[in-house]
Amino acid sequence: MIHHLLSAADLDADEAVAILDTAGELARATGRSVKKLPTLRGRTVVNLFYEDSTRTRISFEAAAKRLSADVITFSAKGSSVSKGESLKDTALTLEAMGADAVIVRHPASGAAHRLAMSDWTKCVVVNAGDGTHEHPTQALLDAYTLRHHLNDGSGDLDGRRVVIVGDVLHSRVARSNVLLLKTLGADVTVVGPPTLLPVGVEHWPCAVSYDLDDVLVGADAVMMLRVQNERMNAAYFPNAREYSRRYGLDRRRADLLAADGIVLHPGPMNRGMEITAEVADGPRSVVIEQVTNGVHVRMAVLYRLLGALPELETEAG
Ligand code: NCD
Repeated sequence: MIHHLLSAADLDADEAVAILDTAGELARATGRSVKKLPTLRGRTVVNLFYEDSTRTRISFEAAAKRLSADVITFSAKGSSVSKGESLKDTALTLEAMGADAVIVRHPASGAAHRLAMSDWTKCVVVNAGDGTHEHPTQALLDAYTLRHHLNDGSGDLDGRRVVIVGDVLHSRVARSNVLLLKTLGADVTVVGPPTLLPVGVEHWPCAVSYDLDDVLVGADAVMMLRVQNERMNAAYFPNAREYSRRYGLDRRRADLLAADGIVLHPGPMNRGMEITAEVADGPRSVVIEQVTNGVHVRMAVLYRLLGALPELETEAG
């Protein structure tokens, strides 16, 4: 049993499958008339967001509330962080307020790790995205979505072909997905312009390609990545039209997938850039399901991390 969730590499296959199975059970439980479970009553979960977020922040908030935890959402804008307060001082403050878990999103790669390994706080730490490094709960919700579509929700992803496309260089989603999908036995290929693939990608546990049409043929799923203009300080490709022509997903390309192949995107989407509106809203797209699944997967993560605290077990007993 892990104590924090900082990287997709923290999860071995048993732990990952246990989280995905728990998410399935929680989805069924909250699908019934009772949306709220008492599991984390009396626990305090803090959402500590130093970077903009819509989906992830709301998803963690909904997850914690459905498990009856008290939730404090703390965004850097409008707090003392914008006056220059350090991560350390913020962590000490949260600790003093009795938080049990901190969900952290930060522009610096390694921030969640720093927090977890420090003696600033004893909280359970969940990485909700650190710089261009990792975003493990996104990888879990993607794996959950893939399992649901490709294996009726229960089987493994052994030998399933998943293609991850685009701005891999700036994508914490790509890195976490490659690690987790490998653990779950999938066969992953990353594809993008050479300028948007990180140095050392050849050592990642996946295949690498520059030719999207070629790798899409017969694949079970394609995961489109957002072109992260806000993290770019140079020109990585000639222009948007050229990018879309080589690496954008349109209907013709989506139809190269296996007959029941699906299209994922973590959001927010640049419609017309990495994906056309027709594909984003089309029959293969599972983008909205990913959002729904995100809540169940994050409930499962909180349940497994906080549910394991000794006091809770005493209470239950
Ligand atoms: C991703 C992120 O923030 O890393 N989005 C998300 O969590 N839903 C991907 C992105 O911003 O493109």
